Amino acid sequence: MDRTLVIIKPDAVERGLSGEIVARLERKGLHLVAAQLRTIDADTAAQHYAEHVGRPYYAALVDFITRGPSLVLVVAGVPEVWRVVRSLMGTTNPLEAAPGTIRGDFGLITRENLVHGSDSPEAAEREIALFFPAL
Ligand code: PPS
Repeated sequence: MDRTLVIIKPDAVERGLSGEIVARLERKGLHLVAAQLRTIDADTAAQHYAEHVGRPYYAALVDFITRGPSLVLVVAGVPEVWRVVRSLMGTTNPLEAAPGTIRGDFGLITRENLVHGSDSPEAAEREIALFFPAL
Protein backbone atom coordinates (compact mmCIF):
# COMPACT_ATOMS: atom_id res chain seq x y z
CA MET A 1 0.00 0.00 0.00
CA ASP A 2 1.44 3.38 -0.98
CA ARG A 3 1.42 5.87 1.85
CA THR A 4 2.79 9.32 2.40
CA LEU A 5 3.55 11.77 5.19
CA VAL A 6 1.60 14.99 5.58
CA ILE A 7 2.40 17.70 8.10
CA ILE A 8 -0.35 20.21 8.84
CA LYS A 9 2.06 22.93 9.93
CA PRO A 10 1.88 25.22 12.99
CA ASP A 11 0.32 28.12 11.06
CA ALA A 12 -2.58 25.93 9.94
CA VAL A 13 -3.13 24.49 13.43
CA GLU A 14 -2.98 28.01 14.95
CA ARG A 15 -5.54 29.26 12.43
CA GLY A 16 -7.94 26.38 13.07
CA LEU A 17 -7.51 24.97 9.58
CA SER A 18 -6.42 21.44 10.48
CA GLY A 19 -9.96 20.07 10.23
CA GLU A 20 -10.47 21.73 6.85
CA ILE A 21 -7.23 20.24 5.52
CA VAL A 22 -7.98 16.74 6.84
CA ALA A 23 -11.47 17.03 5.31
CA ARG A 24 -10.00 17.90 1.91
CA LEU A 25 -7.76 14.81 2.03
CA GLU A 26 -10.68 12.62 3.09
CA ARG A 27 -13.16 14.08 0.59
CA LYS A 28 -10.67 13.27 -2.16
CA GLY A 29 -10.95 9.64 -1.08
CA LEU A 30 -7.73 9.28 0.90
CA HIS A 31 -7.76 7.88 4.40
CA LEU A 32 -5.75 8.37 7.55
CA VAL A 33 -3.38 5.63 8.65
CA ALA A 34 -1.90 7.56 11.60
CA ALA A 35 -2.28 11.00 13.14
CA GLN A 36 -0.42 12.78 15.92
CA LEU A 37 -0.63 16.33 17.22
CA ARG A 38 2.89 17.20 18.33
CA THR A 39 5.32 20.05 18.60
CA ILE A 40 8.20 18.97 16.38
CA ASP A 41 11.51 19.32 18.25
CA ALA A 42 14.63 20.88 16.74
CA ASP A 43 16.43 17.56 16.31
CA THR A 44 13.52 15.98 14.42
CA ALA A 45 13.13 19.12 12.29
CA ALA A 46 16.85 19.03 11.43
CA GLN A 47 16.55 15.40 10.31
CA HIS A 48 13.37 16.08 8.36
CA TYR A 49 14.82 19.09 6.53
CA ALA A 50 18.43 17.78 6.26
CA GLU A 51 18.45 18.17 2.46
CA HIS A 52 17.77 21.90 2.84
CA VAL A 53 20.75 22.71 5.10
CA GLY A 54 22.60 25.68 3.59
CA ARG A 55 19.57 27.20 1.91
CA PRO A 56 19.01 30.85 2.91
CA TYR A 57 15.64 30.06 4.48
CA TYR A 58 16.78 26.99 6.43
CA ALA A 59 16.91 28.63 9.90
CA ALA A 60 13.53 30.30 9.38
CA LEU A 61 12.04 27.00 8.21
CA VAL A 62 13.22 25.14 11.34
CA ASP A 63 12.12 27.99 13.65
CA PHE A 64 8.70 27.96 12.03
CA ILE A 65 8.06 24.22 12.05
CA THR A 66 9.06 23.97 15.75
CA ARG A 67 7.08 26.98 17.04
CA GLY A 68 3.93 25.12 18.02
CA PRO A 69 1.90 21.98 17.44
CA SER A 70 1.69 20.38 14.02
CA LEU A 71 -0.74 17.64 13.05
CA VAL A 72 1.40 14.89 11.51
CA LEU A 73 -0.43 12.35 9.35
CA VAL A 74 0.21 9.21 7.39
CA VAL A 75 -2.21 9.09 4.46
CA ALA A 76 -3.02 6.29 2.01
CA GLY A 77 -5.73 5.20 -0.39
CA VAL A 78 -4.36 5.16 -3.93
CA PRO A 79 -1.13 4.26 -5.76
CA GLU A 80 1.28 7.21 -5.81
CA VAL A 81 -0.69 8.86 -3.03
CA TRP A 82 2.19 11.35 -2.53
CA ARG A 83 1.38 12.85 -5.94
CA VAL A 84 -2.29 13.25 -5.06
CA VAL A 85 -1.41 15.01 -1.81
CA ARG A 86 1.07 17.34 -3.55
CA SER A 87 -1.59 18.23 -6.09
CA LEU A 88 -4.12 19.05 -3.35
CA MET A 89 -1.46 21.18 -1.58
CA GLY A 90 -0.57 23.46 -4.50
CA THR A 91 2.80 25.04 -5.23
CA THR A 92 5.29 26.02 -2.51
CA ASN A 93 4.63 29.77 -2.83
CA PRO A 94 0.96 30.29 -1.91
CA LEU A 95 0.79 33.42 -4.07
CA GLU A 96 1.38 31.20 -7.10
CA ALA A 97 -0.74 28.27 -5.95
CA ALA A 98 -3.92 27.63 -7.92
CA PRO A 99 -7.29 28.44 -6.38
CA GLY A 100 -8.83 25.23 -5.13
CA THR A 101 -5.57 24.02 -3.63
CA ILE A 102 -4.88 24.24 0.09
CA ARG A 103 -2.11 26.81 -0.32
CA GLY A 104 -3.99 28.65 -3.06
CA ASP A 105 -7.08 29.01 -0.90
CA PHE A 106 -5.55 29.74 2.51
CA GLY A 107 -1.95 30.99 2.19
CA LEU A 108 -0.08 34.22 1.51
CA ILE A 109 3.48 33.59 2.74
CA THR A 110 5.95 30.97 1.49
CA ARG A 111 7.31 30.18 4.95
CA GLU A 112 3.80 29.75 6.35
CA ASN A 113 2.48 27.54 3.62
CA LEU A 114 0.23 25.40 5.80
CA VAL A 115 1.16 21.90 4.78
CA HIS A 116 4.04 19.60 3.92
CA GLY A 117 3.77 16.50 1.75
CA SER A 118 6.52 14.01 0.90
CA ASP A 119 7.89 14.62 -2.59
CA SER A 120 8.64 11.01 -3.63
CA PRO A 121 7.92 7.44 -2.46
CA GLU A 122 11.41 7.27 -0.97
CA ALA A 123 10.94 10.51 0.94
CA ALA A 124 7.57 9.25 2.16
CA GLU A 125 9.01 6.09 3.68
CA ARG A 126 11.98 7.99 5.20
CA GLU A 127 9.68 10.62 6.72
CA ILE A 128 7.17 8.04 8.01
CA ALA A 129 10.05 6.20 9.72
CA LEU A 130 11.18 9.46 11.33
CA PHE A 131 7.80 10.49 12.70
CA PHE A 132 6.14 7.10 13.22
CA PRO A 133 8.93 4.58 13.86
CA ALA A 134 6.40 1.97 15.03
CA LEU A 135 4.80 1.89 11.56
S1 PPS B 1 9.23 21.63 -2.13
O1 PPS B 1 7.83 21.74 -1.70
O2 PPS B 1 9.99 20.73 -1.26
O3 PPS B 1 9.35 21.31 -3.53
O4 PPS B 1 9.72 23.08 -1.97
P1 PPS B 1 11.16 23.66 -1.95
O5 PPS B 1 11.10 24.90 -2.73
O6 PPS B 1 12.18 22.63 -2.33
O7 PPS B 1 11.28 24.02 -0.43
C1 PPS B 1 11.75 23.11 0.53
C2 PPS B 1 11.11 23.41 1.86
O8 PPS B 1 11.45 24.73 2.26
C3 PPS B 1 10.28 25.52 2.38
N1 PPS B 1 10.61 26.86 1.85
C4 PPS B 1 10.72 27.95 2.62
N2 PPS B 1 10.59 28.13 3.93
C5 PPS B 1 10.77 29.41 4.39
N3 PPS B 1 11.08 30.47 3.62
C6 PPS B 1 11.22 30.31 2.29
N4 PPS B 1 11.54 31.36 1.54
C7 PPS B 1 11.06 29.00 1.73
N5 PPS B 1 11.12 28.48 0.47
C8 PPS B 1 10.84 27.18 0.59
C9 PPS B 1 9.21 24.83 1.60
O9 PPS B 1 7.93 25.12 2.12
C10 PPS B 1 9.60 23.39 1.80
O10 PPS B 1 9.13 22.91 3.05
P2 PPS B 1 7.99 21.84 3.12
O11 PPS B 1 7.78 21.59 4.57
O12 PPS B 1 8.47 20.64 2.38
O13 PPS B 1 6.80 22.49 2.50
